[in-house]
Amino acid sequence: MLDRVVPPLDPAVPLANEARSLADLFLRRAAATPTAVAWKAKKNGEWRSTTWAEFKARAMALATFLAKRGLAPGDKIGIVGSTRPEWCICDVGGQLAAVVTVGAYPTLAPGQLAYVLDHADVRVVFVEGKDEVEKILAVKHEVPKLELVVVWDTRGLEETLRQHAWLMGWDEALEAPGDASLVAARVEAIDPDDTALFIYTSGTTGPPKGAMISHRNILVTLGGVHFNAFSRSDISLSFLPMAHAAERILAFWGRIDFGIATAYATSVPAVLEELKEVRPTLFGSVPRIFEKAYARIQTEVDKAPPARKRVFRWAESAALAVVEAWQRGDEPSLPARLAHRVADKLVFSRVREVFGGRVKRFITGAAPIPRPILAFFWAAGLPIYEMYGMTEATVVTHGNRPDQVRLGSVGRALPFVEDKIAEDGEILVRGPNVFKGYYKNPEATREMIDEEGWLHTGDIGRKDADGFVFIVDRKKHLIITSGGKNISPANVENEIKASDTFISQVHAHGDRRPYCTAIVTIHPLEAVEWAKARGHLGDAQADALRRALLASPLSRPPGLAPVMEKATTDPEVQKRIASAVRRANTKLARVEGIKRIHLLERDFSLEEDEVTPTLKVKRKTIEKKFAQVFDRLYEDPGFGILIEEE
Ligand SMILES: Nc1ncnc2c1ncn2[C@@H]1O[C@H](COP(=O)(O)OP(=O)(O)OP(=O)(O)O)[C@@H](O)[C@H]1O
Ligand SMILES: [Mg+2]
Repeated sequence: MLDRVVPPLDPAVPLANEARSLADLFLRRAAATPTAVAWKAKKNGEWRSTTWAEFKARAMALATFLAKRGLAPGDKIGIVGSTRPEWCICDVGGQLAAVVTVGAYPTLAPGQLAYVLDHADVRVVFVEGKDEVEKILAVKHEVPKLELVVVWDTRGLEETLRQHAWLMGWDEALEAPGDASLVAARVEAIDPDDTALFIYTSGTTGPPKGAMISHRNILVTLGGVHFNAFSRSDISLSFLPMAHAAERILAFWGRIDFGIATAYATSVPAVLEELKEVRPTLFGSVPRIFEKAYARIQTEVDKAPPARKRVFRWAESAALAVVEAWQRGDEPSLPARLAHRVADKLVFSRVREVFGGRVKRFITGAAPIPRPILAFFWAAGLPIYEMYGMTEATVVTHGNRPDQVRLGSVGRALPFVEDKIAEDGEILVRGPNVFKGYYKNPEATREMIDEEGWLHTGDIGRKDADGFVFIVDRKKHLIITSGGKNISPANVENEIKASDTFISQVHAHGDRRPYCTAIVTIHPLEAVEWAKARGHLGDAQADALRRALLASPLSRPPGLAPVMEKATTDPEVQKRIASAVRRANTKLARVEGIKRIHLLERDFSLEEDEVTPTLKVKRKTIEKKFAQVFDRLYEDPGFGILIEEE
């Protein structure tokens, strides 16, 4: 059915099962397909290719540089920057020198960055450019073990480079060619159970923890994901942060395993445009991105002339009927199939064009995604596979796979993973992918891995008769009302988000309260469209805001704040949101129903430390920051928007 895939004629051959370490895997890749393209990057407006052999030459030079600087096997190097070729040369170069490579998000505040670099005992750090150097300058005294900072892009730093002996340009570090025998000796001595890299967790539930991931952890995961056959001509577009396990291990090291090329987006704002140039065949991201794309498509349709709107809605329901038949295991009827085919040609081919027109597979993970959004993408001919896992289990333990898709579930355990649901509902996993522990935090490690080797994920889930796992919520996030009822906020939030595309974020609240309330935010882009339609914004102003937001959905361009305030205080908008929440309530259990909401005058943001770099809402932060708002939702009958009486 919809998830059936035709095996490619030119299958890519993976190598992880033969390799002993990441360095060994890379050397095997460069030897197996030296002239194939490892990546494409845009220079002066043109995409240029780099082969695996060229990649190897640079990584060898870097490994030699590190060894000559006195870094011993097991020492730590840091990498801080956006996702670009230099990041990858550093990661592989570090591996070839047998050092532990540690990534950090370039979006971290100076103090957060200092915390990670210091905690990881980083001796040498590679950073992107001026912004990162400035952050380091501000906190250098908090990172006493840091000896050297190497900068990829030295523009605007000429004077600073002269001032500080501990600062060096990228070209200088790569000047001398690699020493093959030195590297060979280092790689030979790596034990598969040595720590290959640290990944700091996203920090959704507290400060990020440094997970020690071994070579074996990664090789087993790559070798067993067997998501399905990739083609040698597959190509992806890379823009997600390399500091996160998904992009780093599954995507980057996965491409080394299979020998698949990627194109590095020039910047995150450039992604939309470059999708059309690169036309990737694979596309992975976090739910937030798919939610935004979905909201965008739906609003465009709502704004369209009535005739077009009718055609789209007809196509959508025809295609959704086929999706639901497939999910029930039924053959769709002949008329349904015909309608679907027409709908696909007329409407959905255009939706696919937004992603370049060649995407064979979307992958989503890292946070829950509402089921209607998954169903929509399947309907649109964009198969979307939800996966689940965590840093501590080397990114992924469960996944929907071709011929094994159950929408709303995160799929079955991967072949090398054992899973079970504990009595209290917590998902436990065991296998060779379970990490070595948290760096410098044995107590936290002991709390997480029990004597029998089960990793306690902290997530509550259930498993159906066929082994498909459904995530309920995080254990720590469960709301227990004062009446003693257990509620999953994620479930409530997803239902509300799915009920109106105007809605951006929802935070449900109700722990030790008699009933639930919520903070709701609206999409800035939708607010702009609304303000324009109501004549609160001139065309030029609306266009400028729209362009800024489309280029960078998380930005807050000047002029946005008053628009957001206007929208969130407008009675018509408030009524619309209230009825969306009411609709969601009808789909929820009575105790889950939201009785009152506060419509926030802005979206949750990275700068306010309300979401992680992976765009997950930091619930604890929200609870603390908006404690008074929540109190008033219960105590002050004039506050917030009433949804229904208790
Ligand atoms: N498909 C999914 N559906 C729902 N939740 C998911 C999914 N995939 C991952 N998750 C959530 O993400 C978690 C793993 O995320 P990650 O290791 O990046 O850090 P984090 O748990 O968010 O942060 P921290 O451990 O620092 O609080 C899982 O434990 C789970 O809660
Ligand atoms: Mg976690």
